[in-house]
Amino acid sequence: MNVITLAGSPRFPSRSTALLTVAQRWLERQGINVTPWNLFNFNPEDLLYARFDSPALLVFIGQLAEADGVIISTPIYKASFSGALKTLLDLLPEHAFEHKIVLPVATGGSIGHMLALDYALKPVLNALKAQEILHGVFSEDSQITHYDRDPQLSAALEGRLYSSLETFTRALEKQAQFQFNAVGIAPTV
Ligand SMILES: Cc1cc2nc3c(=O)[nH]c(=O)nc-3n(C[C@H](O)[C@H](O)[C@H](O)COP(=O)(O)O)c2cc1C
Repeated sequence: MNVITLAGSPRFPSRSTALLTVAQRWLERQGINVTPWNLFNFNPEDLLYARFDSPALLVFIGQLAEADGVIISTPIYKASFSGALKTLLDLLPEHAFEHKIVLPVATGGSIGHMLALDYALKPVLNALKAQEILHGVFSEDSQITHYDRDPQLSAALEGRLYSSLETFTRALEKQAQFQFNAVGIAPTV
């Protein structure tokens, strides 16, 4: 199974990206292939000026088409997901997330905006035709330390993230089984 992680923070180091680093390690321990992407992989001018022929964008879209699942992270900015992430999502084809299991994760300064994933990001993922959007994982800044090198999560956050990753993995397996039953493609993991 192939999973893409997409880090939606315009900053580095980044707490929300650290969640993806931890998630990638966990998934790889289960034998799942993970390809990490972040906004620094794209020319910022291509995103700002909506250049649909951006070379990095075309590679990303191609890899997305082959992926079974996506984990997407964002910092909360002004009660929503980051504008920088939106510049990328705006350039994706309408069906970019079709047949994909999507797990959204976010970090914010306080729990005041923990529902931003639900009211802001999920409708966009839905517009991109995600097959299944799982319950998101939200973290307060204080729950992530050493995010510039070897990220450490609080025990409570780690438990929530791992539990969501188990749900994510089960959904991927279910989908692979469904595809096998439908078209005879054997699941790879
Ligand atoms: C421009 C800006 C706007 C922010 N707005 C919010 C906000 O509305 N609500 C919130 O909880 N945190 C807000 N924060 C805090 C960030 O969401 C938080 O520090 C987050 O973990 C940063 O993630 P990153 O390190 O991945 O960039 C804001 C931070 C910045 C820089």
